[in-house]
Amino acid sequence: MQVIRTIAEIREVIRNAKRAGHSVGLVPTMGALHTGHGRLIDQGRAECDLLVVSIFVNPLQFGPNEDYERYPRCLNDDLEFCENHRVDLVFCPDTKELYPNAQKTYVEVEEIPRELCGRFRPGHFRGVATVVLKLFNIVLPDRAYFGEKDAQQLRVIQQMTADLNLPVEIVAVPTVREPDGLAVSSRNRYLNPEQRQSATVLYRALNAAFQQLCAGERDAAKVVAAGQAVLAEEPGVREEYLEVVDAESMIPVKTITGPVRIAGAVWVANTRLIDNLYWKGC
Ligand code: PAJ
Repeated sequence: MQVIRTIAEIREVIRNAKRAGHSVGLVPTMGALHTGHGRLIDQGRAECDLLVVSIFVNPLQFGPNEDYERYPRCLNDDLEFCENHRVDLVFCPDTKELYPNAQKTYVEVEEIPRELCGRFRPGHFRGVATVVLKLFNIVLPDRAYFGEKDAQQLRVIQQMTADLNLPVEIVAVPTVREPDGLAVSSRNRYLNPEQRQSATVLYRALNAAFQQLCAGERDAAKVVAAGQAVLAEEPGVREEYLEVVDAESMIPVKTITGPVRIAGAVWVANTRLIDNLYWKGC
């Protein structure tokens, strides 16, 4: 496995791979790799000749009071993880390599980032879209892998790719969960055992809302209320949002007529967790 830190070096490797007719896959990550990332990597491994994992904690997507500084950084563990998952190349540039000068160009996707996380994290999705486009331009992947756990992010990337005619196939990978339903996340390692236990309430709340949909409820407010009732049972957990959104636009709906996502964000002490469930209608 190659570990590359500069743009010039990775461009050279990619050029040679393409010349040899090899397909290139990219799994963009911020490191602190876990079984969720592993699922993306394994799928990429199965589908691409040259599989690249990028590891970069992107300052552009963190707000001033967010966890950029304390975000877990454990490159040695991550490299071992990648090696075990038969990754060909890890691209782990430092901040100066990707942002040598103050960035003056940004990718701004409209509508999709407006609600859910976008409402509470202004500038977040513009930071994500900008770094992902930079990574696409550096790695030139034929396929890139993103998790449905970050459904709004996935929609932003899909929209950017379509609107800007990027020659890359975006592959969506289902959410990997712990046995008790908690979505696997790098931020779960902030939780102490008691908080870890409380955190399962988010998945239970999403399921309670989902059950309403299955039972035929089509009033989004009632579906949301069923989820909120479950969240309220856990005093250590504060709701940030719980919404039923159109699965394409990610804008809340009043009446459910087509595919939706039930999406939620909660705070467990000072750790923010998100999750969602897809409902394709019946
Ligand atoms: P990060 O949080 O490291 O996640 C990298 C990828 O792994 C994302 O596509 C995310 O959706 C996926 N992922 C995380 N947890 C998952 C789980 N439990 N099941 C399935 N997939 C999961 O998302 C980012 O980094 C960054 O915003 C990035 C796209 C790298 C841009 O900086």
